[in-house]
Amino acid sequence: MRVVLMGPPGAGKGTQAEKLVEKFGMVHLSSGDIFRAEKASGSELGQKLAAIMETGALVPDDVVVEMMAKAIVAVEGSGLLLDGFPRTVAQGEALDETLTKMDAPLDAVVIIAADDDEIVGRITGRRSCPSTGKIYHVEYMPPKVEGIDDETGESLVQRDDDKEDVVRQRLEAYKKQTQPVIDYYRETGKVKIVEVDGMQSPDSVFADIAAALEAGEN
Ligand code: AP5
Repeated sequence: MRVVLMGPPGAGKGTQAEKLVEKFGMVHLSSGDIFRAEKASGSELGQKLAAIMETGALVPDDVVVEMMAKAIVAVEGSGLLLDGFPRTVAQGEALDETLTKMDAPLDAVVIIAADDDEIVGRITGRRSCPSTGKIYHVEYMPPKVEGIDDETGESLVQRDDDKEDVVRQRLEAYKKQTQPVIDYYRETGKVKIVEVDGMQSPDSVFADIAAALEAGEN
């Protein structure tokens, strides 16, 4: 199965990706995680990416497309869960080109919707494990011991771009640059579009997504 997971920042893409990978066994490729790993490597490119991400703006299309195409081709033959990519129509067109060359069309585009105020509360309360990336929320999904990852025992961290003013910028970027990607997929008419209410509990959101994807498999 090849699926694109879309939705505003904090809608729950990463949270649902973890559950979807467990159920359907596809490879999870998150553009944000790939960029943060590049930053952690200390490379010059990583520093440039970090400087853009900290403002809430999008990374330029040519950089994104090159990095994501490389990651997708590297897992050719596997099921695919794309999270955070494509985020502009140009990226959507480039993805189509890559997948067409691989003869591996998308099965579904899943869009998780959530309100702006809910998003700000979710993102400012988000914490994650620095090595595994496991996601928590200080209130909604707390770890067993405050500030500590349940599995690795490491101290949880907060992302540099999870401050309220940056979150508002990321929301603006989503509305202006990413929402048109949904229309792009609607217009092609080639892929199943699944819209899910992200304001429910994580388990209910997951149940809705899984049911829609399984219906598509029959
Ligand atoms: P990226 O890393 O992709 O971040 P994002 O899209 O802004 O999404 P988030 O990771 O913030 O949120 P999420 O939807 O995964 O929510 P989560 O599950 O963690 O991008 C970061 C930056 O990288 C961009 O701003 C841009 O600069 C750059 N970038 C990345 N891709 C790019 C591209 N293709 N083109 C250009 N630039 C790109 O949940 C959030 C919190 O809510 C957690 O604490 C979680 O525990 C909690 N939560 C989740 N679901 C629920 C629920 N149902 N109820 C209650 N709490 C919940």
